[in-house]
Amino acid sequence: MSAPRVGVIGGGQLARMLQPAAINLGIELKVLAKSDGESAAQVIPNQVIGSHEDWDDLSKFAADCDVITFDHEHVPLEFLTQLQESGNSIQPGPHALKYAQNKLEMRKKLSETGIPCPVWKEITDDSQIDNFANEVGYPFVLKSAKGGYDGKGVWVVSNQAEAKVAVSEIKNSGSEVLAEQLVTFTRELSAQVARSPHGQSVAYPVVQSTQTDGICHEVIAPCPDLSDERAVQAQEIALQIAKKLDVTGMLAVELFDTGSQILVNELAMRPHNSGHWSMDGAVTSQFENHLRAILDWPLGSPAASAPFTVMVNLLGKDVGNLHGAFRHVMARDPAIKVHLYGKEVRPGRKIGHINISGDNMEDLLARAWHAADYLTGVIEE
Ligand SMILES: Nc1ncnc2c1ncn2[C@@H]1O[C@H](COP(=O)(O)OP(=O)(O)OP(=O)(O)O)[C@@H](O)[C@H]1O
Ligand SMILES: [Mg+2]
Repeated sequence: MSAPRVGVIGGGQLARMLQPAAINLGIELKVLAKSDGESAAQVIPNQVIGSHEDWDDLSKFAADCDVITFDHEHVPLEFLTQLQESGNSIQPGPHALKYAQNKLEMRKKLSETGIPCPVWKEITDDSQIDNFANEVGYPFVLKSAKGGYDGKGVWVVSNQAEAKVAVSEIKNSGSEVLAEQLVTFTRELSAQVARSPHGQSVAYPVVQSTQTDGICHEVIAPCPDLSDERAVQAQEIALQIAKKLDVTGMLAVELFDTGSQILVNELAMRPHNSGHWSMDGAVTSQFENHLRAILDWPLGSPAASAPFTVMVNLLGKDVGNLHGAFRHVMARDPAIKVHLYGKEVRPGRKIGHINISGDNMEDLLARAWHAADYLTGVIEE
């Protein structure tokens, strides 16, 4: 049997981090990237430079791939359906991916399935703003159904005037508008599962994820002070979603923990930032299990390999000299694992992450943040 070739659409850091896993599994990756300088294109030699929104580029790219998967969820569904109809294996398939592409479709489907969500409503017309405000009160949240990432496309509005501005901006961007109750959560969780086409599923430990300005910044695995009952409930929600929506590969379910309830925020059907800890802190990383799942191979153990793993994202500041600082970090704390994405440093951009595992969570947090702050130039010693 020859080794399969997996095509990854999108050249970001998630595609890049699939490559070490692919090397170990002895399979080949091919990437569709926007330029040869993109994060994944730097490390995946078999590449097509083109656009995921262009049918010719997509079909040329797909021609010699055994399975196609994704770095992001922005490929037009009609193209994916067309590829599938021409015999390509698309994992996850467009019938599942539509719920990760469109938050309104996701809310409808989850509510139908009985999965707990924040109170929500589609806003098609300004007159519905007051009704929704009467139901949940100000402030509430308005979201672009499509195209949002890292908090872009999420507005918290405090009055009718602000709501009207947000609704019109979202509509002008070509998306439907989703209104949601502003959930007063005590923390955000993420429950990740891997699921294969024949239905094998594994659930990773539930993690706590903290966002700064809508961008994931810190993850603690497993989530501290989460009762077994609550953790199992979160894992069951993720397993149920994966099955009901027929998701293949990795699924991340972002959750709000209100203290008394767990509500679903959104879904990602690919490796996810909340799973980067698994590269150093789990028996099988999310990247390896994504590949094993989409190939319909037996899945690896998702168990944690240390009592705690802390992940802190490196968010670009104004400083460019990562590698100078990197050597100091390596010397100061040999237990720190730094993962860099080969991206130019720009303010707010995810340029890498830090993982560290051990048994004292407070100590791990302090060391991970020190390394991250030093690398991004927030502190100088
Ligand atoms: N209904 C809500 N109530 C309270 N906070 C919310 C709500 N919806 C979103 N948020 C906050 O905004 C963050 C970003 O929202 P969301 O995950 O929907 O956006 P996104 O841009 O798609 O993010 P991602 O980068 O995860 O794709 C959430 O992680 C949460 O902190
Ligand atoms: Mg999110």
